Amino acid sequence: MPLSSEEFYRIQKLPPYVFAVVNEMKAKLRAAQYDVIDFGMGNPDGATPKPIVNKLIEAARDKRNHRYSMSRGLPNLRLEICKRYKRNYGVDLDPETEAISTIGAKDALAHLLFAVIGPGDVVASPNPAYPIHQYGVIMAEGHACTIPMPTPDEFLSRLHDLYKRGAEKKPKMILISFPHNPTTTCVDLDFMKSIVALARKHGTMVVHDFAYADIAFDGYVPPSILQVEGAKEVAVEIFSMSKSYNMAGWRMGFTLGNPKMIKALARIKSYLDYGIFQPLQIAGIIALRECEAETQKICATYKKRRDVLVSGLNKTGWTVEPPKGSMFLWAQIPEQFRALGSLEFCKKLLQEALVAVSPGIGFGPYGEGHVRFSFIENEHRTRQAVRSIKQFLREK
Ligand SMILES: Cc1ncc(COP(=O)(O)O)c(C=O)c1O
Repeated sequence: MPLSSEEFYRIQKLPPYVFAVVNEMKAKLRAAQYDVIDFGMGNPDGATPKPIVNKLIEAARDKRNHRYSMSRGLPNLRLEICKRYKRNYGVDLDPETEAISTIGAKDALAHLLFAVIGPGDVVASPNPAYPIHQYGVIMAEGHACTIPMPTPDEFLSRLHDLYKRGAEKKPKMILISFPHNPTTTCVDLDFMKSIVALARKHGTMVVHDFAYADIAFDGYVPPSILQVEGAKEVAVEIFSMSKSYNMAGWRMGFTLGNPKMIKALARIKSYLDYGIFQPLQIAGIIALRECEAETQKICATYKKRRDVLVSGLNKTGWTVEPPKGSMFLWAQIPEQFRALGSLEFCKKLLQEALVAVSPGIGFGPYGEGHVRFSFIENEHRTRQAVRSIKQFLREK
């Protein structure tokens, strides 16, 4: 009898990505020579800054770098991320015990959850969210307790409520990420202080996914949770090179903070990987040490695109608010289409306006009613998309 993937214990719990439906349609339209303007995936379109690429090439030529590397990351790479945290946030970290290199933030999330969450452990996190935040918990056999987040204060208040409801339901971990994907919600240091205080009071672990640490606009500076006094007692922060340095394909990230959680992650990773290709790690040192100005340029590019998209959509009658951080616009579906639901609306927009966006439902049930635009098309193509959307809305 042929094997069915539905029979696999873990696979049964992982529904196919909702985004695959839109991706498939996109591929068909492209194959038929249609020019689709694609705001779908948060996949940076810009080049990795030159000094980083040059260092990679130089390091790749040295045969000493062709061997297995270190699962925890090169000591100098860990030292460099710690120096960046000291420079940018005034946070002291020990590169030996409080910093580990990971294969991007996704690896960090999935394997950290695998390391520290056991069957039935409750992990509280906002919904909608980046899918691994929920499914990483499910893969680790924990209980993903998703909380709506109309505002950060409302999220905090619902989180407090969880602790009031009997001991067995108490979260073992709070998993957050700000600037938030997909809602673009941003928080201040006081919010982080409240999270840390709550976690310390109840002995709860905190994971802060800081993937958009450097993508912020109009003077807003996203806080690191590690800036909060005592945060390291309960919290780790996951930093990603993907957005800050246009290095998404390189698969570089870090987990920083609580030594106990980092030790657990190091143990799991020692069984699973040997770290990324050493020349990538060496080039990563250059990124962290020398490329602050490049990060600012990347952020400025997203800001220009944000402004074109936001002002353009508002002129078409599709009312949207500019985000303060992240590389996304989280837009409520125009009134006349809301009943369709986000997936059907995305299909219609793609079919009729040749504009691809992500359906809110793909980020969880509370994402319904919205779509997400990523700022990954240049200003010219963003304007072109706005014109198509204007036409699309006019025809309805
Ligand atoms: C919130 C969030 N975390 C993590 C990631 C993945 O980061 P990385 O490329 O470092 O795995 C993304 C990517 O879109 C994201 O939006």
